[in-house]
Amino acid sequence: MRSLIDIQELSVQEIDELIAVANDIIAHPEAYREKCKYKKLATLFFEPSTRTRLSFEAAMYELGGQVLGFSEAQSSSASKGESVSDTVRVISGYADIIAMRHPKEGAPLVASLAATVPVINAGDGGHLHPTQTLADLLTISREKGRLDNLTIGVCGDLKFGRTVHSLIAAMARYENVKFALISPAELKLPSYIKKEILQAKGIEYTQTTDLSAAMPDLDILYMTRVQRERFFNEEDYLRLKDSYILTPDKLRNAKADLSIMHPLPRVNEISTAIDADPRACYFRQTLYGKYIRMALILKLLEVA
Ligand code: NCD
Repeated sequence: MRSLIDIQELSVQEIDELIAVANDIIAHPEAYREKCKYKKLATLFFEPSTRTRLSFEAAMYELGGQVLGFSEAQSSSASKGESVSDTVRVISGYADIIAMRHPKEGAPLVASLAATVPVINAGDGGHLHPTQTLADLLTISREKGRLDNLTIGVCGDLKFGRTVHSLIAAMARYENVKFALISPAELKLPSYIKKEILQAKGIEYTQTTDLSAAMPDLDILYMTRVQRERFFNEEDYLRLKDSYILTPDKLRNAKADLSIMHPLPRVNEISTAIDADPRACYFRQTLYGKYIRMALILKLLEVA
């Protein structure tokens, strides 16, 4: 039995296989409609979510399975003081697979040690978000036709943005991928990620506060929201929240085939005037999230 806590637990070959299955689901959805008949997914969300939770649920329904769960800590026994380990030990008797989001870094890992069914990390604090990264990789592979030879600009809150941490860990394994790390000084990528991933693998990267200066080289621009819920005080958040706002004029020196991505929700980072630009991929990205989660559920449940 296998869980998914960190994207690095999947080999590049396994990721390629998940992408292939997701593409097959997109092409032949009817072939998958009963694959998870009589199987149940539990969504244990101790922190707010729209896309991640509902795309997991839609994924399980489209596989013919069923879904149970909760969408806020207040409506679970966590509010009475129950531990994550006890909760998942119990849920293991009610469901075949668990998707868990938690504000504490490491909580899904702890859960996976107590569970007797696979646990998927659906986001743990400011740490990791492996299934968003799977959605991102499917998006990149469909938009660009490749996962190698890319210059990726990640912009915004690189400190607390868990989607960025998992994306860098995943993309660093492909040939000739370079990163531009674009953030305010206070929201730089944590140094452990630079050290353990970028420097350890000898990946080329630049670090800047200037989005316009980085723009001309980018094949992908991955915008992120400043993660208000991780800040220690509101003043810092208010000062930093609008550090980057992508508007059509800022794209003037961008490549014609740039892909603009965002895990969503967006606040102000991307002007709605960009939405109609064919380079804007973020709504397609949300749909791909459902298909890749279908592929992941099939893999972890070992359904052929
Ligand atoms: C992201 C998350 O929860 O980390 N959202 C998502 O899952 N699509 C990004 C965010 O909340 O900013």
